[in-house]
Amino acid sequence: MNQTDWLQYDVDQMVQGDRELLWHHLKPHKVFESKEQMIPVEAKGLMVKDIRGREYLDATSGGVWSVVVGFGRESMAKAISDQLIKMTYYAGALGNIPAIKLSKKILDYLPNQDRIFYSNSGSEANEKAYKMIRQLSHIDPERRGKYKVLFRNRDYHGTTIGALSSTGQSERRQHFGPFAEGFAEIPSALCYRCPFDLHYPGCDIRCAREAEEVILREGPDTVGGCIVEPITAGGGILPPVAEYYPILREICDKYGIYLIFDEVVCAFGRTGKFWGYEHYDVKPDMVTMAKGMASSYMPLSATTATNEIFAKFLNDPNDESDRLNFYRDISTYGGCAAAMSAGLENLRIIEDENLVERSRILGDYFLDRLKELSELPIVGDVRGKGLFCGLEFVRNKKTKEPISEAEMAKIMGDVAAEGVLVGRTNTSLPGNNTIMNFAPALCVTKEQLDRIVTAVKKALEKF
Ligand SMILES: Cc1ncc(COP(=O)(O)O)c(C=O)c1O
Repeated sequence: MNQTDWLQYDVDQMVQGDRELLWHHLKPHKVFESKEQMIPVEAKGLMVKDIRGREYLDATSGGVWSVVVGFGRESMAKAISDQLIKMTYYAGALGNIPAIKLSKKILDYLPNQDRIFYSNSGSEANEKAYKMIRQLSHIDPERRGKYKVLFRNRDYHGTTIGALSSTGQSERRQHFGPFAEGFAEIPSALCYRCPFDLHYPGCDIRCAREAEEVILREGPDTVGGCIVEPITAGGGILPPVAEYYPILREICDKYGIYLIFDEVVCAFGRTGKFWGYEHYDVKPDMVTMAKGMASSYMPLSATTATNEIFAKFLNDPNDESDRLNFYRDISTYGGCAAAMSAGLENLRIIEDENLVERSRILGDYFLDRLKELSELPIVGDVRGKGLFCGLEFVRNKKTKEPISEAEMAKIMGDVAAEGVLVGRTNTSLPGNNTIMNFAPALCVTKEQLDRIVTAVKKALEKF
């Protein structure tokens, strides 16, 4: 084999290399001793081919809901390569042309946000928001001491220690402590498993109101932020009820707390609106985004803020006591020009192909089709918005006892055997890893959605 041609490979050698050299994300490697791991080698649209030549319909947008425009878009590759040739890289202390263009486009979609700070991953985008809040707790007399950030049980905000400290999934956190100080948990917001055993609408939206109790317990003078996924993703597809965010917003306003929407998953049309928070009558103080921003053709994330927040960092560099009061943050690859070009081309595709509207219309169709499965004894709940849906599996519909991890793994294998890749809650919370999730690329067809439902139905009928 010509060793300089990296596209040529020996299949068995690659499979062996995968087993012996790579340390895969979120995978217990012991299973590879007896089971070969799929290696995807080619993909176009929603179809993925693996190293053994098997083809799958991918209902996960690349495993973690990010490839919103679908695989193999030549215009994306061209936008990236053109930019790399024209102006490869310069540090983010300076701007670049695609970054300026992309900022204008994204901020046009965010009417009350004025500034955008670029980084590389969802975790990092959230860390940036926390660092803004923390720095203000030192430099802004009106916010002195307000460094804590509230996060919701079942929400995920990332893998770095700060982001993990603000993640409400015990299995993701386990053994990674001690965690960063300055984060406090508020309840999850899912009626199907109400944390207070109440029933909507008679519950007075206790899950939202409880945030005030937590603020009072922590000390209102210490709390500066509250981060939420508009629709919780990895915790099991949890869209709160309509009243939830307006109540949370009111509580945040009462105590001078910045409400941060972690749009890392929901943005760019995933839920049938451009942003997930747009399903609710609420405005953010900060927004973080990643995955769908460049559809994972390049790593790209961002944190946005209002001019009011930005202005607090406008220091006087000649005043010794004010010298360090600008936002002193950096990320080598944040703002990297080719990622911006990918972001621009990604948005062009979303707009030209009407993908947000497509997500809304086909999402309604898909949810209706999935609801047909609720006749099966194992399907406890069907929920979602746009092309972001979930099925929760239970042993008993009355008691809502979840199925076991082993049973969930078997169902996932059975769906894959039908040639369809779906997602699931994975090491989130005990008893919570039994929710199958669907987030196909937004260019999915009705026929492909039907194929996903048929494959899942076949797998579930074996249960
Ligand atoms: C809602 C949410 N926020 C943040 C992150 C972290 O993003 P990343 O893996 O790019 O760091 C994720 C990842 O899945 C996520 O789902």
